[in-house]
Amino acid sequence: MSVWNGETRRIYMQEVGMRDGFQAERSFVATHEKIALIDALSKTGVAKIEVTAFVSPQAIPALRDAEIVLREIERAPNVVYSALVPNVRGAERAIDACADELNLVISASESHNLSNLRMTRAQSFNGLRQVASIAHGACLPVNISLSCAFGCPIEGDVPESCVMSWCQRFIDEAGAAGVTLCDTTGMAHPGQVVRLTEAFIARWPDVELSLHFHNTRGMGLANVLAAIDAGAVRFDASLGGMGGCPYAPGASGNVCSEEIVHALDAMGYDTHVDLAALIDAARRLPALIGHDTPSQIVKAGRRLDLHPPPADFTAIRERALQRDMPHLHKN
Ligand code: COA
Ligand code: ZN
Repeated sequence: MSVWNGETRRIYMQEVGMRDGFQAERSFVATHEKIALIDALSKTGVAKIEVTAFVSPQAIPALRDAEIVLREIERAPNVVYSALVPNVRGAERAIDACADELNLVISASESHNLSNLRMTRAQSFNGLRQVASIAHGACLPVNISLSCAFGCPIEGDVPESCVMSWCQRFIDEAGAAGVTLCDTTGMAHPGQVVRLTEAFIARWPDVELSLHFHNTRGMGLANVLAAIDAGAVRFDASLGGMGGCPYAPGASGNVCSEEIVHALDAMGYDTHVDLAALIDAARRLPALIGHDTPSQIVKAGRRLDLHPPPADFTAIRERALQRDMPHLHKN
């Protein structure tokens, strides 16, 4: 349903390509190009931009310029500029560079957490509480992203009770203002998305819930629509559909920002996003990352970007019309 309480329903788009996308790229995107692209995204109407990650530069060299990027972008008043931080060191760097929000990450599955963050979940959560208290000390809100909330590429299904109990700890013990349920490797499916989204909103109506889907198995848009029907209004998406997960070979990018905005616009939702400006930004990517992106909207255009008829269209039409007037053929 596109209509909610008699009004066009507002959906908040959160751009994560500059972090989730670039971190998966082989080539280093030049710092000034990152800044220019983020400045362009700031003008599109997205609600939040995850600008970068303050992680170890050895672990993710693609984002080794986090400080400069976050400091030098031009900030738009209605955009929240968020940064991912894995530990206290990352939090201190992000606060120093004036992030608006810290995004902390932990995995719902022990094996994925060990692979990605090199800690057990219990160790991660202890660190995360420490990071949250540093953020709160600096008056910054904390969002906690729960990776593999819809399944783990190493362990398989993750019980919904496990997801809910981690969310409870984030909110009660770490004071999270927002929680993102991440489908890190594209294992979510619509029925599961509806169940988890409804359960979360029923239990924590005042906590900002975001959904983060990857399109690994072609279910990304279906999952976004399922979550909207279940009451969600905030979605991560990445420009051009960039992204991946190093611990799930073949795992593809996030749902593509311009594809999601295009679909939601067509369905009558209010994303506040200037789709043409978003597509212009996405068209810059191949030159920056050295290859094409999965974006179908960049390839095919919007549904009403029309094409000229074939060159012999007039002749085709005349021949077709003559078929209705057989007497003209008699002489
Ligand atoms: N910023 C900068 N450097 C950092 C850092 C941070 N936030 N955290 C750790 N480091 C550095 C350390 O200083 C150390 O450097 P050195 O070898 O030159 O002394 C090195 O990284 C290893 O530090 P250590 O504390 O032993 O951490 P680790 O090796 O256990 O790594 C992580 C832990 C999680 C911080 C690191 O693996 C990482 O940043 N991974 C990226 C995870 C990620 O973002 N995944 C995708 C998003 S979900
Ligand atoms: Zn992701």
